[in-house]
Amino acid sequence: MGTTVIAGVELIRKGLAKPVGSLTQMATIRLGRRTENRTPKIKEFVPLEKLENIVFGAWDIFPDNAYEAALDAGVLSVEDLNKVRPELEHIVPMAAVFDSKYVKRLDGPNKKQGKNKMESAEQLMEDMARFKSQNNLDRVVIVWCGSTEIFLEPVPVWADLESFEKGLSDNHDAISSSMIYAYAALKSGIPYVNGAPHMTHDIPALLELAKKNNVPVAGKDFKTGQTMMKTILAPGIKARMLGCTGWFSTNILGNRDGEVLDEPLSFKSKEVTKLSVLEYILQVEKYPELYKDLYHKVKINYYPPRGDNKEGWDNIDIFGWLGYPMQIKVNFLCRDSILAAPIVLDLALFIDLAQRAGLGGIQEWLSFYLKSPMTAQGLYPEHDLFIQLIKLKNTLRYLMGENLITHLGWEYYFD
Ligand SMILES: NC(=O)c1ccc[n+]([C@@H]2O[C@H](COP(=O)([O-])OP(=O)(O)OC[C@H]3O[C@@H](n4cnc5c(N)ncnc54)[C@H](O)[C@@H]3O)[C@@H](O)[C@H]2O)c1
Repeated sequence: MGTTVIAGVELIRKGLAKPVGSLTQMATIRLGRRTENRTPKIKEFVPLEKLENIVFGAWDIFPDNAYEAALDAGVLSVEDLNKVRPELEHIVPMAAVFDSKYVKRLDGPNKKQGKNKMESAEQLMEDMARFKSQNNLDRVVIVWCGSTEIFLEPVPVWADLESFEKGLSDNHDAISSSMIYAYAALKSGIPYVNGAPHMTHDIPALLELAKKNNVPVAGKDFKTGQTMMKTILAPGIKARMLGCTGWFSTNILGNRDGEVLDEPLSFKSKEVTKLSVLEYILQVEKYPELYKDLYHKVKINYYPPRGDNKEGWDNIDIFGWLGYPMQIKVNFLCRDSILAAPIVLDLALFIDLAQRAGLGGIQEWLSFYLKSPMTAQGLYPEHDLFIQLIKLKNTLRYLMGENLITHLGWEYYFD
């Protein structure tokens, strides 16, 4: 997915492709009353960084440059990749912080050798600072597009920054590689977005660091494919007060992500983010007559012939008036990284905007892009794609001093 983002932005910059799926590049935003007819593009309304000014860098355990990695991923055609070959060949990954304890099915040669996890974090901080100065950049943001790590249970070392920093020096097992990247970023004042389902910075210690340094963060897990469809369909079913007794989701995919997720402990991280979505949207506790019997099952099957072209099937058992049953079948032949790439771009641009606007900590308004949105303690996440979109756009209006749009009929209320 990472190389699909980079190659895509290079193609778009050259005017050879369109940024389909990206709100920052394509969407408009209504301002004021409907009669005012003010609907600029989001990128004209808020001061987002321009695509021309973005410089990409990466870490990976494989030393392949972005062109080689993109060829290997097989998402974009060779013809498309060749149009931006020099730009991609220029991007060579820095040595990664990696331990196959956390991603069982993977290993590679391009790794750092730190004495302990704190030293690894310091090496990452040096990478970040060097990347910024060598490229003469004003700002840096980091979006995790690395593999899914195994599910980890909360431990006291996550509880606060002091314990976490001690854990880094003591090489504590409950600190995974992605947590070391997040720590290094937040310590350096760099916004961090987690596109995978594992915890990373969704733990008290790293949220404390984000707050202390007033750095914006977002996560977890990009909302693509089957879950995107779920958060489009489920709000509709609930809005019409239709019942649901079962939702069975299964899919096949054959990319490296699929291979990693074939490992039960990595899948557990994914399962947790995928399963919670329906419970929250359908609000089982508020509507027991409609959803108390809901049986929700999610399966991911690694199936190499399909590569990145995932196929998802959903069988949804619903019921209507007087309890009469009906079924919905969804067969989504999607391209995972094609759906994910615009999300990565938007999150990078928006989290950068958040930092310039002085917004630190969890950016809930970016939940729109995420399967398992991080929330402040005690709050439940909002999963409904349409509520998430309203929240995102209203945040942009708020940042720019425009009236929020509540869709009330009496818009003169705001006069
Ligand atoms: N592709 C999608 O559409 C999509 C959608 C939603 C979420 N995600 C999540 O995003 C993540 C990446 O997915 P993908 O399809 O790009 O996978 P991928 O396997 O194609 O790429 C992941 C890359 O991360 C590298 N990596 C793993 N651990 C690393 C580390 N510690 N440091 C540096 N590099 C490391 C791997 O070597 C690999 O090149 C996964 O967690 C996945 O579940 C992907």
